[in-house]
Amino acid sequence: MITIKSEREIELMRKAGHLVSLMHQFIKPYIKEGITTRELDQLCEDFILKNDAVPSCKGYQGFPATLCTSVNDEVVHGIPSNRVLKNGDIVTIDVVIGYKGYQGDAAWTYAVGDIDDDKKYLMKHTEQSLYEGLKMVKPGNRIGDISHAVEEYATAHHLGVVHELCGHGIGKDMHEDPEVPNYGVPNTGPRLKPGMVICIEPMLTFGKRYVSLLDDDWTVITEDGSPAAHYEHTVLVTEDGYEVLTPRLD
Ligand code: MF3
Ligand code: CO
Repeated sequence: MITIKSEREIELMRKAGHLVSLMHQFIKPYIKEGITTRELDQLCEDFILKNDAVPSCKGYQGFPATLCTSVNDEVVHGIPSNRVLKNGDIVTIDVVIGYKGYQGDAAWTYAVGDIDDDKKYLMKHTEQSLYEGLKMVKPGNRIGDISHAVEEYATAHHLGVVHELCGHGIGKDMHEDPEVPNYGVPNTGPRLKPGMVICIEPMLTFGKRYVSLLDDDWTVITEDGSPAAHYEHTVLVTEDGYEVLTPRLD
């Protein structure tokens, strides 16, 4: 069931989304060679708790941490660990924050020091594919319009579109209806209405689109070892378009 949020709920989701934006801004300067992903996780957990909010991933279906930290060929759901970030890595920080019962969700891929041109290309065009999807968000359009816009842009730039994971509705729960795939057919799927809130989150690879799951049962990696990037915003459907609830503050 796709829920339509009330004005009161939207206000709380704005708050949750703003905390997600603030956390990304807070952690960015720490993403440097030498830090471990566990240290990033601890810093973010402290930040969230200090803001009277909830790290919603922690304990979700047994996930053990506040952040998903996915490095290089890791696509999503990397578990923070003693892995030390190196110059030339890319790392996706994905977080869900709960505020007074409502969730905000955003992921961003960050460069660690100087990265090669392939990774720069991957990051730039994965981010742009999210904006191509966003442009389709307005009442009357359908989920398939978003999916197709992301896929078309990614494919035109020779990037792999991961099919196994997709975006989602969000509200009291981090995952609500509808599913928002990153591939699809225009003019298909549920119709967008004002008050819906969805997460659009392209996960693109520099190589083939195929992925596998590590033995930890969480970390999704590219099968061919190519790097992956992931950008996600929480987005409200408004009367005439959309409002990003997790805007970048930099
Ligand atoms: N941002 C992720 C998503 O969109 C959060 C899920 S990670 C989990 O699905 F650990 F909480 F499962
Ligand atoms: Co999400």
